[in-house]
Amino acid sequence: MCGIVGYVGGRKAAGIIYGGLKQLEYRGYDSAGIATLEDGKISVVKRRGKVSVLQPYIGGLGGTAGIGHTRWATHGGPSDENAHPHSAGKFSIVHNGIIENYSELKEKYFPDTAFLSETDSEIIARLLDKFYDGDFLYALKKVADLLKGSYAAAVICADFQGLALIKRNNPAIIGYGEGENFAASDAPALSFCKQITILEDGDVAVLTADGVSIFNERLQGVIRERIVNPATPLSLELGDCPHYMLKEIREVPASVERTRTAYLSVENKVGLTLAGAERIIITGCGTAYNSGIIAKRFIETFAHMPVETEIAGEFRYKNPIITPNTVVVAISQSGETADTVEAAKLAKRLGAVVVAVTNAPYSQLTRCADAVVPVEAGSEICVAATKSYTGQLTALYLMAKTLAGQGAAEAVKSLSAVAPLCERVIAEGADIDTLADMCARASGVYFLGRDIDHGVALEGSLKLKEISYVPSEGYPAGELKHGTLALIDIRTVSVFLITSPRLAEKSANAVEQVLSRKGKAAVITNVAAVRERFAGRVPVISIPECDEYLSPFLTAAAVQLLAYKTALLLDRDPDKPRNLAKSVTVE
Ligand code: F6R
Repeated sequence: MCGIVGYVGGRKAAGIIYGGLKQLEYRGYDSAGIATLEDGKISVVKRRGKVSVLQPYIGGLGGTAGIGHTRWATHGGPSDENAHPHSAGKFSIVHNGIIENYSELKEKYFPDTAFLSETDSEIIARLLDKFYDGDFLYALKKVADLLKGSYAAAVICADFQGLALIKRNNPAIIGYGEGENFAASDAPALSFCKQITILEDGDVAVLTADGVSIFNERLQGVIRERIVNPATPLSLELGDCPHYMLKEIREVPASVERTRTAYLSVENKVGLTLAGAERIIITGCGTAYNSGIIAKRFIETFAHMPVETEIAGEFRYKNPIITPNTVVVAISQSGETADTVEAAKLAKRLGAVVVAVTNAPYSQLTRCADAVVPVEAGSEICVAATKSYTGQLTALYLMAKTLAGQGAAEAVKSLSAVAPLCERVIAEGADIDTLADMCARASGVYFLGRDIDHGVALEGSLKLKEISYVPSEGYPAGELKHGTLALIDIRTVSVFLITSPRLAEKSANAVEQVLSRKGKAAVITNVAAVRERFAGRVPVISIPECDEYLSPFLTAAAVQLLAYKTALLLDRDPDKPRNLAKSVTVE
């Protein structure tokens, strides 16, 4: 969701904040803004568009304290007016989250005031202005107490040479420098700070050039731990790739390698945490949920343990049944997805053991987990998850092996073939061009597979619709004839994933059913008989032969490339698809 940056020190704030916002642009990119404070006067620039729209104004913004924001719209469309910062009287604020009771507050305190934006966030600035009597801290606390929902907000006040942060259910981080201090919603924006503090819910933090004071909900001064900043600056270099998505697909093999190596150092803890598990519930959202569907197959097959998968946004509202010895595995690239974090917290409250599978150490998710299985995908800038998905599959495969009682060394070794095979799929990606062209012209694209291929079919479909905007569905191949077949016509493309020799014949029958209804079809396979049967009849994307349970790593790379190439043919920006943001920290 939205990205927040704040600075106070001896240097010009605007340039520093702009640099931080560039690092956070993946959190939202429909508008951006900066407010700085100079000689007790606040200046604001905010514009619809990506962070770079601010560049021409940076030189003109004086002052050594300020705040900035890059937005993903929740309340009020993308526009200059709705862009943050929002200001009232002596205050300017930037906000990440959703103020659920903003209409109520507006009606109660400002019945006759015309607000300048349609956002839920403007209420924060208005309330600060209303309750400010010269005591900044008091006003912050009073306003924080009135807000319902989720927020991390950075605030500047014309009377105070510094900035403040308030937070509940959204991440807020402080970074320490020499004679300067920083604030952000996310560690990458502060990667140059050696030490950071992650604020707790209810905290109010006040930053000046000389120091940071943190207060808890009762406004008592508290000391929060300073930790070594785990973030490295996001590498914004594209190398020879035109897009981050392609760069990150090419990094899939490295993601697998790093993740499997990292598992050796956590296996012991994970093994102890999982000991006694009798039932597993896997939860997550979007791509992370899709990796959970594959993990279900891994665990059921390797460990013969019952597994349920639950979309996190559903799980958190359904009064879930947590029996003794239930382990909840929460998967999240960012570790900050609100639905997943809340699902994990609920599971914990209900007595489950919680295991987090994430790319983000020190995220909200890791803080509520009993054990963490690291995904070492490295930072992912493209909104569409690629290498993090394959990293999650790696971590989950190894966790399934631990549940099955297999030693880590042997399990890690069993994945040694994956990276080189993925490299081959990615290098031979040109074969996908014909299929991408078909998808770009299609009225709808269906991804179909059985068993483990069905899991990747879901992910292929999500990737395609997310970045190309072509309507798409992922379906179990056997279900086609129970309804979806009615949609098949000459304008549709059905992409069949067929990697299991056991089920190849069955899936091949479904291809025939589509062709005999004049639908277009294609096959992604490593089964020789399937290749031969369909060669010359439909495009066949050949992937290397491998163990059935390693095939998702390879088919995933193929469907990621397919989505990428289709998006390019349709002239979409694959890195920043419309309406989306990378880290969804609101409900
Ligand atoms: C799709 C995608 C999203 C995320 C989902 C969960 O490409 O990236 O579907 O997978 O928003 O995000 P995390 O994994 O950060 O919890």
